[in-house]
Amino acid sequence: MYVIQMKNITKRFGNLIANDQIDFDLQKGEIHALLGENGAGKTTLMRTLYGLYSADEGRIFINEKPVHITSPRDAIRNGIGMVTQHFTLVSPLTVAENIVLGATKGISINPREISKSVAEASRKFCIPVNPDAVVRSLSVGECQRVEILKALYRQAKVLIMDEPTAVLVPQEVDALFKSLKQLVEQGLSVIFISHKLYEVMEICGRITVLRGGKLIGTVHRAETSEKELAKMMVGRETFGVVREAGKDPGEPILSINNLKHVRNDGFERLKDISLNLHKGEILSIAGVSGNGQSELVKILSGLLKPTEGKIVLDGIDITGASPTAINAAGMGRTPEDRHAGVIGELSVAENLALEGLDDYLNRGVLDRKKIREHAQELIEEYQIKASPEDPVGKLSGGNIQKVVMARSLSRNPLCIMAAQPTRGLDVGATEYVRKKLLEQRNRGAGVLLISEDLDEVLGLSDRIAVIYEGRIMDIMPASEATEEKLGLLMAGVLDKEKTPTF
Ligand SMILES: Nc1ncnc2c1ncn2[C@@H]1O[C@H](COP(=O)(O)OP(=O)(O)OP(=O)(O)O)[C@@H](O)[C@H]1O
Ligand SMILES: [Mg+2]
Repeated sequence: MYVIQMKNITKRFGNLIANDQIDFDLQKGEIHALLGENGAGKTTLMRTLYGLYSADEGRIFINEKPVHITSPRDAIRNGIGMVTQHFTLVSPLTVAENIVLGATKGISINPREISKSVAEASRKFCIPVNPDAVVRSLSVGECQRVEILKALYRQAKVLIMDEPTAVLVPQEVDALFKSLKQLVEQGLSVIFISHKLYEVMEICGRITVLRGGKLIGTVHRAETSEKELAKMMVGRETFGVVREAGKDPGEPILSINNLKHVRNDGFERLKDISLNLHKGEILSIAGVSGNGQSELVKILSGLLKPTEGKIVLDGIDITGASPTAINAAGMGRTPEDRHAGVIGELSVAENLALEGLDDYLNRGVLDRKKIREHAQELIEEYQIKASPEDPVGKLSGGNIQKVVMARSLSRNPLCIMAAQPTRGLDVGATEYVRKKLLEQRNRGAGVLLISEDLDEVLGLSDRIAVIYEGRIMDIMPASEATEEKLGLLMAGVLDKEKTPTF
């Protein structure tokens, strides 16, 4: 019994074919993975199913009957729910209000009744939420549960989850998988998108792979392997970077002392952060996003002034300095939001020259030829899929990230701050970025890696610090860290036996 059949779906954006005659189906009670590189067309296919895009060609069947879905409202009416990374909750309202909002038409809203009804739904679907909590106070994992419950409350029979685990700590991923397994037993069907192959192998029955907008195939978990899936996705087999043991780290290159940041509303975002980053080491700051990392990154970039504390980069006090001064002192940065690191309307070549415009001035005039040649070299070295003239805004996420990295690394900075450098990147691009960071460490640069991805943190770091609610919970050599230990610290659980050593 098929709950969803998408047949021969084609979706174009101008000249680009994002989905090229794709067939995809979903059986009742299965978790079906959708895999593929960045830009393969996964989200487009799901937005089409959810009524956010309309396909140029093809047909959709629900319970084996043809349907026309032209809006999310249609999709919801047909029993389809979608949970994305960008939550659609209203933060000043309570969990119960959010869940019931829009689902009750014309019925007056009695807070006690909706709270009771949401508590019932929470029990029925085994999705723990506190109906009376205000959404603003929830963690990312809790928000996601509210989104799931919201869809189920609207009687979703099919749940589309677009990279749900990208924002969760390992314990939350386990909890999500447990819930999903229970829900499919109750008859729910799930479409699950992830870049993490081991997750797909753990939870999904069938796996469909897209590449370059085309369907590569659908396989059963029992008849495939992570290797084969990687090969289907990108056309080659081996993945993963090899990290050689570090040499003894050199002297400190970046010292952060008693850094504090208090927001205008009095909320303390950073509480007394002290860290020393050494030459030739990768020091990671692991943590669930929203625990002060953005503020730390902004302060180290010169975009935000600390309330207290001191930052020294290679002997130069850069506390409260401008981005240009911090750059000049030897800091290379890849920002958290890669789109913020580039100017979309400018060309790849112009973006690559942005941080060192002085180098291209010839008697006060920009040397266009030199900019272009420099860009051509970096495009080759970093395998950026673009030409120097292309506007950066048109590139895929992975290629934009390569532009940002090429620009900052080509200046051989002493200290590199990489914030969530592989978030949302596919396996190939991720591997590439991680290799580059290791190369920089091996060349003697100090690398501060801010990441929520524990595989990344464990795979690359020499030392690992965990940040939670603006505080460094603990800092340890990577050899002493485990996923479980880090996950607990990231969730704010401090090992009572041990006092933090920093
Ligand atoms: N609204 C849009 N307008 C123009 N092009 C788009 C639009 N949405 C997606 N695209 C393009 O369609 C292609 C497929 O994008 P899509 O977002 O579906 O990929 P994806 O498989 O979800 O990738 P990722 O893993 O990075 O999320 C990409 O080349 C993308 O640039
Ligand atoms: Mg996507």
